[in-house]
Amino acid sequence: MTYTVENKVALITGANRGIGKAIVESFIEHGAKKVYLAVRNPDSTKELEDKYGEKVTTLRADVSDAQSIQQLAEQASDVDIVVNNAGIMKFASPLSDDVEEVLTSELDINAFGLLRVAKAFANTLEANQGALVQLNSIASIKTFADISTYCASKAASYALTQGLRDKFGEKGVRVLSVHPGPIATDMGAEAGFDGAPAATEVSEGIIKALESGDFHLFPDVLAKQFEAEYQNFADKIVNASLSV
Ligand SMILES: NC(=O)c1ccc[n+]([C@@H]2O[C@H](COP(=O)([O-])OP(=O)(O)OC[C@H]3O[C@@H](n4cnc5c(N)ncnc54)[C@H](OP(=O)(O)O)[C@@H]3O)[C@@H](O)[C@H]2O)c1
Repeated sequence: MTYTVENKVALITGANRGIGKAIVESFIEHGAKKVYLAVRNPDSTKELEDKYGEKVTTLRADVSDAQSIQQLAEQASDVDIVVNNAGIMKFASPLSDDVEEVLTSELDINAFGLLRVAKAFANTLEANQGALVQLNSIASIKTFADISTYCASKAASYALTQGLRDKFGEKGVRVLSVHPGPIATDMGAEAGFDGAPAATEVSEGIIKALESGDFHLFPDVLAKQFEAEYQNFADKIVNASLSV
């Protein structure tokens, strides 16, 4: 079912930089009425505020804090599209001494953060027949050993995204699961992803995927290679009506 951002009110977590910032810019360029910039540090959105004026509103939010996300949902009760983009990635071998600590912190932001956002905005998204967009990864379907814990957290968020698709679908709310490969952001640079594609490949892909009504988006060239191999499994298993 087609869905456009034109004249919609959107909220992006982690909107101040990287993929989140690109999503803000793409949404406004494609006609969004207003975009809430949900960030930990309200001083970090000055450039976007200067550029877009009344089109953007900065709200303080920390996805690791359920109360903060509940307050965010109360402040943005007119939102149609929520993009849960905020995420962290750390390097840890599954055999490292700090692996449990690292996995706990990544699950808190990348997986529990999604649950906090989805639950807080559920009533608003249903009332507005809106959409939830979740930033997952190719790491949701393939584990890279040195970022095993990040991959585990992104596999968890992908599993939860599938459940949210089904439960939100019953309420008329669309859910989009986004699976980029390496992208040129601060996170990408920290991981040493040289020559990675720009974040606009993800943000423009989200616009198109919302329009097409697809559940999965593999936005960049490398991600599309994963998609080509994954498509059959997605069709036969992930997108099939199977019950337990
Ligand atoms: N870059 C890639 O290669 C890539 C590939 C696949 C998927 N992804 C996913 O795409 C999303 C965005 O990644 P990115 O590359 O743009 O990352 P990034 O450049 O590191 O930016 C991360 C964003 O998340 C915010 N954030 C982190 N913890 C937060 C918290 N507790 N509460 C609220 N905001 C928080 C950061 O805010 P601060 O500025 O306050 O730190 C920042 O805005 C992530 O979910 C990531 O896992 C990225």
